[in-house]
Amino acid sequence: MAIYLDEAISEAVALISDSQSLVRVVLSGRRRNMQTRCERIDIRPVQIKEAIHLQVIENDGRQTTAKNYLPTEFDSLALLSSGYANILVEQTMGSLSIRISKKGEALVTRSKGTNEQVLTHDRNKNRLLNANDPFLIEVGISDSKGVIKPSKSDKYMQVEEFLRILAPTLKNAIEAGQIHQPTKDNPLTITDLGCGHAYLTFGAHQYLQSQGIPLSVVGIDIRTKSRDRNIVIAHKLGIEKSIEFRAEEISETTVTKTDVAIALHACDTATDDAIAWAVHSDAKLLLIAPCCHHDLQSQLSEIPEPWSIITKHGLMKERMSDLLTDALRAQILRLLGYRVDVIEFIGGEHTPRNLMIRAVKTGAKPDIADIKRYNEMIAMWKVKPALAERLEKELVRSTTT
Ligand SMILES: C[S@@+](CC[C@H](N)C(=O)[O-])C[C@H]1O[C@@H](n2cnc3c(N)ncnc32)[C@H](O)[C@@H]1O
Repeated sequence: MAIYLDEAISEAVALISDSQSLVRVVLSGRRRNMQTRCERIDIRPVQIKEAIHLQVIENDGRQTTAKNYLPTEFDSLALLSSGYANILVEQTMGSLSIRISKKGEALVTRSKGTNEQVLTHDRNKNRLLNANDPFLIEVGISDSKGVIKPSKSDKYMQVEEFLRILAPTLKNAIEAGQIHQPTKDNPLTITDLGCGHAYLTFGAHQYLQSQGIPLSVVGIDIRTKSRDRNIVIAHKLGIEKSIEFRAEEISETTVTKTDVAIALHACDTATDDAIAWAVHSDAKLLLIAPCCHHDLQSQLSEIPEPWSIITKHGLMKERMSDLLTDALRAQILRLLGYRVDVIEFIGGEHTPRNLMIRAVKTGAKPDIADIKRYNEMIAMWKVKPALAERLEKELVRSTTT
């Protein structure tokens, strides 16, 4: 909704002044013809001695500095009016997001939902991965002093939040008997598909190992350079016995079995390769955060009416085909005996690709209604999802017997 900029900023200032409910503020981007004093500012309330302060973390693209202010000393109106194009204010009961357009209009989104207010001063206390963990320094997320590099802070948060979902989901799956209790002789196997520089691969290894879980991790990426770099890092960290890297196409990987399959932003249909491989390899748990989607978008030529009111706008057609792709991926997994949910694994300010398909194998037979829904959906849109092609035999078997 577009409203007057002054009104939107006043609303944000009022929310920031309520330190009992404020969770955090993020300022980023630059308004047209305006300069900002740094690339991004994160603000959050922290308890210091008896008083709540506002911790203001400024990031200039090279380094991060933090200062604490009493709310009475802090001029949020001046800061919010100083040229940032995106303003996000999260409170315990919801959030306000303001995007200031090139014309200076305020596009405002208000959402409901619960956010936790964390007032501890040292953020690291709430982190699964400490910024000074040697693996973060080796992979290049932290600098040599153990401080997260500003250019890598989004990737750090993606890994951190991914693990925040992986850890409890894994625990539940082990408790429910869907995954065996890992032991030294029979460790948990995890495969990261399209691992790239292996931030997540190493993160999963280090974090789960620190939780006392015996495990064996494999990272697969088509790029030999990534494999060679990751192997060197594994040796430096002395963990080469329980983590390995292979330079292979996901669809042709020589890895044949895994308990857990993870993929963070494997490009386009590499995500379908990852899901198909996980199903073929009898993975019990899949956590897949897809990246760009091109497959279905190029297939959407005959639009079933009245959906053309959406698809006639390029932007919405793109979003619609992204949703359709992921909804069909989730439904295919459901038809193959997985319990599936689709969640946001991280806030959109760290990556626009923040959707995650989480699937746990239960072996349940698919519902007739679910089979019908899937068939009607692909018939209506006249599409053949890349994943359906890769899992054609499995789909026929599970939906006809
Ligand atoms: C956007 S990067 C993400 C890397 C990593 N997961 C992360 O989040 O930092 C996607 C990675 O997938 C790899 N990739 C793309 N298609 C692949 C395929 N078919 N087989 C193996 N790796 C692939 C690319 O080489 C690239 O490293």
